[in-house]
Amino acid sequence: MSVKKYGEYALVTGASSGIGKEFAIALAKEGFNLVLIARRKRELDNLAQELQEEMGIKVLLYSIDLTSPNAIEKLDTFTQALNIGLVVLNAGMQTHGSFVKTSLEEQEKMLNLNAMVPMKMAYIFANRFVEKGSGALVFLASTFAYQAVPFFSNYAASKSYILNFAEALHVELAPKGIDVLALSPGLTKTEMPEKIAMDFSKMPISIMEADTVVKKALHALDEQKSSVTPGGRNKMMAFMAQRMMPRSAIASMFGNMNAKAMNPNIL
Ligand SMILES: NC(=O)c1ccc[n+]([C@@H]2O[C@H](COP(=O)([O-])OP(=O)(O)OC[C@H]3O[C@@H](n4cnc5c(N)ncnc54)[C@H](OP(=O)(O)O)[C@@H]3O)[C@@H](O)[C@H]2O)c1
Repeated sequence: MSVKKYGEYALVTGASSGIGKEFAIALAKEGFNLVLIARRKRELDNLAQELQEEMGIKVLLYSIDLTSPNAIEKLDTFTQALNIGLVVLNAGMQTHGSFVKTSLEEQEKMLNLNAMVPMKMAYIFANRFVEKGSGALVFLASTFAYQAVPFFSNYAASKSYILNFAEALHVELAPKGIDVLALSPGLTKTEMPEKIAMDFSKMPISIMEADTVVKKALHALDEQKSSVTPGGRNKMMAFMAQRMMPRSAIASMFGNMNAKAMNPNIL
């Protein structure tokens, strides 16, 4: 695998934990210098120190809430002079439970972080990549992107946006020498599912390790694929949702499963 061809630096949003942290580690191993972004400065500092000492690469940090005013403009300025070739738009949050019982403020923040932030960052970096004729964007979608998911309604819809947006950009930007990948993990062992008030043992799903998800993503990027869903069972679920069941039936199925596994207080 050689994703190093894209340039000197890789930028990863949401690098302080989970899938983003594993992207940072894997890309450091590939020889990239890194720009790491998230809110928790201490986690970023620790990771940067580890990667600089062990791999001898340069790591720049930007501790910022990506949904704060002018965050993207500030990042644009911060990265202006760097030869960034690969951008992983990974930072995300989820909301769950009965939509009407959730906080509208949280829902708005989530939609901003999961959809608006990657769209704006893609605009900035895709324009830079077009100028130099190379580069790559990796977007974090989800297996939830493939159908309507009751009790994760807004989160799943934000991921459907990302999946469709990334797959469209893949086609638009390929002739300009730019690779775009939509990564759709299923349940992955990170801090995110720990915050979900549901009993996953009641669901017909298995959990994957974040480093395995990243390995599959980098392999797919290397093969210039438009989309990847790591894990056999996840692939099968996505295939069923798209090809084998009416949209209304798969939405009802997810609604029933989630209602049984979720804490009744939030339904
Ligand atoms: N885990 C799963 O089962 C799963 C499945 C499918 C898709 N995904 C997607 O994978 C991506 C990574 O999630 P994860 O599972 O690795 O969860 P995670 O461990 O909670 O990581 C989320 C990352 O996003 C950052 N982040 C959150 N809010 C932010 C904000 N306002 N500004 C800047 N950074 C922010 C967090 O850092 P700070 O808190 O330090 O800001 C953290 O680094 C997300 O887009 C998620 O939707 C996850």
